[in-house]
Amino acid sequence: MRDRYGSLTVVEQTLLAKDSYQLVLEGETVAHMTQPGQFLHVRVGQSEDLLLRRPISIADVDLNKQQVTMIYRAGGEGTSRLSHYENGKTLNVMGPLGKGFPVEEAQTGDVALLVGGGIGVPPLYYLAKQLVKKGVHVISVLGFASKQDVFYEEAFKALGDVYVTTVDGSHGVHGFVTNAIDEFELKCDVLYSCGPTPMLKVVTERYRHKKAFISLEERMGCGIGACFACVCAVEDGDAHEYRKICSDGPVFPVGEVVL
Ligand code: FES
Repeated sequence: MRDRYGSLTVVEQTLLAKDSYQLVLEGETVAHMTQPGQFLHVRVGQSEDLLLRRPISIADVDLNKQQVTMIYRAGGEGTSRLSHYENGKTLNVMGPLGKGFPVEEAQTGDVALLVGGGIGVPPLYYLAKQLVKKGVHVISVLGFASKQDVFYEEAFKALGDVYVTTVDGSHGVHGFVTNAIDEFELKCDVLYSCGPTPMLKVVTERYRHKKAFISLEERMGCGIGACFACVCAVEDGDAHEYRKICSDGPVFPVGEVVL
């Protein structure tokens, strides 16, 4: 675990969309960031308090350059402070943490449907790159609130078919990700999804009996299995059965945990 603590240096910070920033960091621990869907626990400021770290998913990795890209929304105090970090600043980062998306569940020639909502879109990008590399056809459905929130549309297009939805209809398909799935009758062999809980609930109901995996990255505390802030019940399990999102997840087979 100690090799998962490291100092990473900011090499790029860009505003991608409304309140959404792309942060590129460089350092030796990037060598461990090979599985999409894992996350980094970033210390913002000097506090040693684990609960004051911010879990941010990995959006992309360049192993040759030892660079990792994260996309985060500047909302709370910590992430707002993070958005002011400039090139050359070092960040204390734990990770990669958690269990990511099982790339091996998609076979060469399969169709994979990637369904993302808002800040749940970034981890799907690193996943899409790995799937394409093994010959999987990738269809991405990316949901945002409004046109000003949309990011990475072109990046996903370079990897496969892309459908963008916006709740207010200002860009792409009007409505939610499910509207695009229905309108274009999208089918798949395997589904991977990450986004807000209401979206994941709908995905779970639709794909409960399919090969499907969801990432519950919204609910996180310490990030290393110590605080129990992320505990969730197991579907059909007894009252004492639970999973920790940070260490057993954040990716679970659809229907394994209660949302
Ligand atoms: Fe603390 Fe999972 S976030 S136990």
